[in-house]
Amino acid sequence: MTSLVQGVHHITLCPGGAQQDLDFFTQVLGQRLVKQTVLMDGSIPIYHLYYGNADADVGSIATSFPYSRKPGRAGSGQLSCTSYTVPNGAITFWKEHFDRHQAEHSGVQERFGTKYLRVRHPAGLLFEMIEEPGDNRNPWMTKEITRDAATRGFFGAVLSVRDVRDQESFFVDALGFRKVGVDGPYHRFDVPGSGPGRVVDLHVEPERAPGSWGFGAGTAHHIAFNVETDDALVKQKAVYEELGFTDASEIKDRFYFHSMYVRSPGGILVECTANVPGGFFQDEAPEELGTKLHLPPWFEEQREAIVAQLEAITVPEENRPRPGTSAAPRPVVTAAQKPIQDSKIPLSRSHSVFDADKQTT
Ligand SMILES: [Fe+2]
Repeated sequence: MTSLVQGVHHITLCPGGAQQDLDFFTQVLGQRLVKQTVLMDGSIPIYHLYYGNADADVGSIATSFPYSRKPGRAGSGQLSCTSYTVPNGAITFWKEHFDRHQAEHSGVQERFGTKYLRVRHPAGLLFEMIEEPGDNRNPWMTKEITRDAATRGFFGAVLSVRDVRDQESFFVDALGFRKVGVDGPYHRFDVPGSGPGRVVDLHVEPERAPGSWGFGAGTAHHIAFNVETDDALVKQKAVYEELGFTDASEIKDRFYFHSMYVRSPGGILVECTANVPGGFFQDEAPEELGTKLHLPPWFEEQREAIVAQLEAITVPEENRPRPGTSAAPRPVVTAAQKPIQDSKIPLSRSHSVFDADKQTT
């Protein structure tokens, strides 16, 4: 089939505390804080923090909903590990770096003939650094993490399933993935598109109890693939329905992109996204990315109530972009100035009332 999917867009996780998450992503994983905003569903203010490489490239973006309100249950039917590419030979650095930060790690492992190292987030989430030559995306660097070791963006992700068959059919028939190999319990798929960061490994774990599906600390929530246009989102929804996946969501306005979700047969929530003009740069300049809280225009009038219920966080000073680390400046229109976009397709937006009485943490 001709696939609508063109690569991985983002991966969304639920850590616990927001500052703990911010510190781990920026200091231990060496990611750039790209965006501070909030969950756009429901009526409880929850941060939505975005982390990525120096250019905030699609395919490098891990996002988090710090959800200390409730623990999740890690298990099968979930994304189990978020994978980053690092240059050849960098694994030794990362092992020492994780030791310095007293972060629990796996030691050097190998699958499909490639070295990798896994590390555990304080909330329990897993990440891995995989050596992959030839990934020329622009890395974010820190005082401790230099260009010869820094992550380039996603290598891909590992998803845990109890049975490979229906998840494989979904990947191939609904999303156009190509199966490229099996290594023990790992089944590898190539995500359509071009460039690096398009590997999804299904980890078959028949005995692993199912993980939770809702928001909960210590669990992944979903993985998103880019179909690029609103027209393609509509077509992708039709592909799902034709194959019998009639529970695909409406198309939602996430301000920085448009989204549509479906629960895949192995249990993993899969999102498809369409780009909107300006993307992450539509409400702040490259050198300002991630430095302050941005709300979608339809939440702005409740800013005071929202902010009052969020954990105060401090963005590390070194996370501020320095000259030469970002893409060229682009024109910026603030969210408040920007009209809510006209779209040729119907878009769903949550018009919640943020009630302080619901906040318990
Ligand atoms: Fe998402």
